[in-house]
Amino acid sequence: MEIKKDFYKKKDVADDYLEFRYGGNSGKLVLGEENSTLQGLLPHYKEGIVLDVPVGTGRISNMLNIYKKKIGADFSKEMLNKAKEKEYSSLIRCDAECIPLIKHSMDIVISLRLFSHYKSMDPFIKEYSRLLKINGVLIFDTVRWSPRSIQPEVCKILGGKVFVHIRKNIIKLLASYGFELVDQKSRFLLPNIFYRYLPYCITKGIISIEKFIPDSLKVTTFWKFQKINN
Ligand SMILES: C[S@@+](CC[C@H](N)C(=O)[O-])C[C@H]1O[C@@H](n2cnc3c(N)ncnc32)[C@H](O)[C@@H]1O
Repeated sequence: MEIKKDFYKKKDVADDYLEFRYGGNSGKLVLGEENSTLQGLLPHYKEGIVLDVPVGTGRISNMLNIYKKKIGADFSKEMLNKAKEKEYSSLIRCDAECIPLIKHSMDIVISLRLFSHYKSMDPFIKEYSRLLKINGVLIFDTVRWSPRSIQPEVCKILGGKVFVHIRKNIIKLLASYGFELVDQKSRFLLPNIFYRYLPYCITKGIISIEKFIPDSLKVTTFWKFQKINN
């Protein structure tokens, strides 16, 4: 979708990316929570090749250092310029729907904060399925709701509309490309960007009561699928 690509092409968007989403003490707390959730889903084998797509600024780079090789891919030159400061084995500028890597060459694909930008996950899941080896792992996130999901698709505020994806459709789509759900973690009572503007003690309070709230009321789901057949 061109609105999304145009937004992330901008240098100021790349420069402000981390501060805008995870700035201040509240933002840092949310970032830490996201990172520990991801950490809990990452496979522990170290010999693997991991693809981080879209790599963005290389936000999760440190967590991927345990793997033999980490590759980053993103459409935005400006975001890739930021990721160059991190230690990726290689960085590729491409659309995530068509990644110039050979089939069945990846052990792990991580795709964070992408699907909320797109109405259809299908072309991306198809491509990740092509790239993953059998038993390879795919980790991604989706959101259950967002105030920006009601904005029209043509509206460009904050980089455009947010798309929500329904659990049963996600599982069905992934199954059609040979994936089986192995784990999932639901997090956060509010869309992440909200916390950034709340005082630290309120953010901490909301996060601490999260464990008593049903998953169906939480905004972000982190998914872990394994590719079981082609
Ligand atoms: C919200 S950022 C997420 C970056 C990173 N995964 C993270 O969690 O910090 C979205 C990224 O997706 C990239 N992007 C959007 N559409 C893309 C596409 N079709 N192919 C490749 N990258 C895309 C943007 O350039 C941007 O870097």
